[in-house]
Amino acid sequence: MHDERQTPSGDGQPDAARVGAGQAIYAPFSLAVYDVVVHGISNHFIWRCPTYQLRRLYDRNVTARHVDVGVGTGYFLARAHWPVARPEITLVDLNPHCLARAAGRISRLSPGMVEANVFEPLPAAQMGKPYTSAGLCYLLHCLPGSMKQKAQVFDHLVPHLADGAHVFGATILPGDATGRGAPNWAARQLMRIYNAKGVFSNEGDRIEDLEAELARRFEVVDIRLYGTVALFEARYRGADRAASTP
Ligand SMILES: C[S@@+](CC[C@H](N)C(=O)[O-])C[C@H]1O[C@@H](n2cnc3c(N)ncnc32)[C@H](O)[C@@H]1O
Repeated sequence: MHDERQTPSGDGQPDAARVGAGQAIYAPFSLAVYDVVVHGISNHFIWRCPTYQLRRLYDRNVTARHVDVGVGTGYFLARAHWPVARPEITLVDLNPHCLARAAGRISRLSPGMVEANVFEPLPAAQMGKPYTSAGLCYLLHCLPGSMKQKAQVFDHLVPHLADGAHVFGATILPGDATGRGAPNWAARQLMRIYNAKGVFSNEGDRIEDLEAELARRFEVVDIRLYGTVALFEARYRGADRAASTP
């Protein structure tokens, strides 16, 4: 039985051990092979979402002041086409190895680093001025809990977003009863292993729930499936919308 702490909003917070398991695998050795394994092989053959779709997602959405949450190796940040020569970038991650690796990757852009758990409010002093884009690529499927609980990351981002900010990302889904996004045999095996280890916690994730949580906080511009991966793009329309949406 998991200890689900209650937040003031009433949304349970997953216990610390499960949160820790979602980032524990990202040690220096695994980060050294991550890009080849995930973005070179798994995206194409297992999740069936070609990596270029994720790169295009970044290219469509990154802005001159960007926060990236759950940074991994910084693969997309290093390849993105930024709209200015020197974008201001902040990296947020619970895992210091990921922060170091991603920051090293884009060291020419001198990114800021914030070591933080997305289930907690983000430290205002370190986050600085509001951001005009926020990327959450392959983060949500690593977070334990229901989609409502995972969406706490959006609540913790909102105070740091400028009006009109692009909020975008991607998450691997297990497929649903309608057959949409049905995983192939290899994807089912890998998801089963990853979920057993706590690397993924996506067995209950549904695209409808993701869309509902986004719509509670943002204007949803697009959400679509490529293979088993949901890509989402949304806009933050300021505090009025968040406050008036039940
Ligand atoms: C699958 S990697 C994604 C990396 C990168 N965005 C990509 O698409 O290649 C997930 C990232 O989320 C981070 N992460 C997992 N749980 C977290 C949490 N509770 N708070 C902050 N970061 C977390 C991990 O440390 C890791 O960097």
